[in-house]
Amino acid sequence: MTGNRTFTMIKPDAVENGYIGAILEKITAAGFKIVAMKYTQLSKRDAEEFYGIHKERPFFGELVEFMTRGPIVAAILEKDNAVDDFRALIGATNPAEAAEGTIRKLYANDIAENAVHGSDSDDNAAIEGAFHFSGREVF
Ligand code: PPS
Repeated sequence: MTGNRTFTMIKPDAVENGYIGAILEKITAAGFKIVAMKYTQLSKRDAEEFYGIHKERPFFGELVEFMTRGPIVAAILEKDNAVDDFRALIGATNPAEAAEGTIRKLYANDIAENAVHGSDSDDNAAIEGAFHFSGREVF
């Protein structure tokens, strides 16, 4: 059982493909409450810091380039068991392996351009939410 908040981004591919509305609809229909949200674009420095844990991985440069190429939607979501339930809702990292009906299965381009981010732990949800939002932007 995880805590009651997670952090998400609708990534540049899904924004470009016109899926913001459809993805937010899936998220709220699954019982998540949006407690913070913004439409923004990551700088190179932002993306390198946000994904710093992955900096030794071979795809790091590609990931930073992708995540900075256009606007994203960042949001903090609230629900019981938020981290685990949200990871189930978005599906596997690689949309080819994602379950039917999951957000990545429906809306992702491929493993690199996979439509949405979801925090992988309560600790990271808190860190990632604080990276994007000040206390007075969270309701
Ligand atoms: S996860 O969610 O952390 O368990 O997934 P992981 O496989 O560790 O991937 C970490 C983030 O890197 C992205 N990723 C990739 N980007 C580009 N190319 C390739 N091949 C690739 N593989 C993984 C993946 O989408 C994760 O981003 P986030 O934003 O955390 O979902």
